[in-house]
Amino acid sequence: MLSIEPNNVSHIEVWNYLLGGVAPRPIAFVSTISKEGIPNLSPFSFFNAFGSNPPVIAFSPSRRGRDNTLKDTYNNLIETKECVVNTVTYQMLHQMNLSSCEYPPEIDEFVKSGLTPIDSDIVKPKRVKESPFQMECRLMQMIELGGKSGSGNLAICEVVKFHIAEYILDENGRIDPLKINHVGRNGGQWYTVCNANSLIKVPKPAEIKGIGFDNLPDFMKSSFIYTANNLGRFALVDKIPDPEEAKRFVESYPIIESDEYAFNMFMSCGDYKSMLSSAKYLLIKGNSKSRILFELTAKCAVENNEIDFAWNVALFASTI
Ligand SMILES: Cc1cc2nc3c(=O)[nH]c(=O)nc-3n(C[C@H](O)[C@H](O)[C@H](O)COP(=O)(O)O)c2cc1C
Repeated sequence: MLSIEPNNVSHIEVWNYLLGGVAPRPIAFVSTISKEGIPNLSPFSFFNAFGSNPPVIAFSPSRRGRDNTLKDTYNNLIETKECVVNTVTYQMLHQMNLSSCEYPPEIDEFVKSGLTPIDSDIVKPKRVKESPFQMECRLMQMIELGGKSGSGNLAICEVVKFHIAEYILDENGRIDPLKINHVGRNGGQWYTVCNANSLIKVPKPAEIKGIGFDNLPDFMKSSFIYTANNLGRFALVDKIPDPEEAKRFVESYPIIESDEYAFNMFMSCGDYKSMLSSAKYLLIKGNSKSRILFELTAKCAVENNEIDFAWNVALFASTI
C-alpha cells in the first residue's frame, strides 16, 4: 500500500486523496447574502449532518488553495450568520457546477446558474426553488482549521426550518431515496447519482442481533460461491435454522424438469425459486455440480434478501 504522511506531500495531493477517498460526499448548496444584500450561491461537499436535537449541519468553505484568500460564502456567514443549505439533485447538477465558478463577490450566482431564488421564512438568504430539500440555518460556530492555503473552516449551523417537497416523500412521509435523485461528489470530475441502479437496501442491525461472522459454519466460510457480502448477510440472523427443518423445506419444494442452461437462465433473472426447483431435478439426475447449484441458489436468495430461504438451501447444500 501507498503510505503517506501529509506533511511529506503538497496540500494539493492531500486534497486529491481526500476527494477520492472520502467519497461519495453529499453536497451542500449554500445560499448566503452579503451585508450589502448581494446573494451568493456555492456548492460545498465537505459537508454532513451532526445530530438531530438540535438539528446541526456543518460544511467547510476552505481557504483558496491558489492564494489563501477566503471565499465569499465564508465572509457572508461571518458577517450575517445565516445561510440556506439546499440539497443537489441530478436535474440541477450542471447548474450547480456552473455556480461554483470563482465569480467576484458582486456577482449573484443565482443569475449565473439560472436557478430560481425564493424567499425563506426565517433567514434572509434565499432558497433554491429547484431543490426539493432546503434547510434555513443559523451559524452556531465557525472553526478555523488552519491559516494556510487549502486550510478548512468548519461552519457549524443549526437548522431553524426545513422545507421538503411532498413529491419526494413515500407513503409513510419519509424521504424516498428513489425519488430525490441526489448527487454526491467523488474525486476529480466524478459524481455519483442516486437512482435505482446505485441504491441498495440493507436491513437495519438494530432490529436483529446477528450471530456474527464467527458463528457461521465452516462449510459456508470455505465455499468459493459465497462472497464476503453474502456471508455478512447470512450472519445477520438471530439463530441458525434447524438443519432438519431446512431439509424438509427443500424436500417439499416442487421440481422442474430442466437442464443447466435453464438453471443459468433462472439465475440471470434472479429467480431463486425456479433455481431451487431446477437444482433439485439436476440432483436427482446425478448432476456432478449439484452442490454448487444449490449454493448458487442460496446466494441468489440472500442477494434478494430472502434470508430464511437462503439459509435452508445453504444448509441443505452442505449435506450433498
Ligand atoms: C461539487 C462541488 C463541491 C465543492 N466543495 C467545496 C468544499 O467543500 N469546500 C470549498 O471550499 N470549496 C468547494 N467547492 C468549490 C467552491 O464551490 C468554489 O470555490 C466557489 O466558487 C466558492 O464560492 P464563493 O467564493 O462564492 O463562496 C466545491 C465545488 C463543487 C463543484
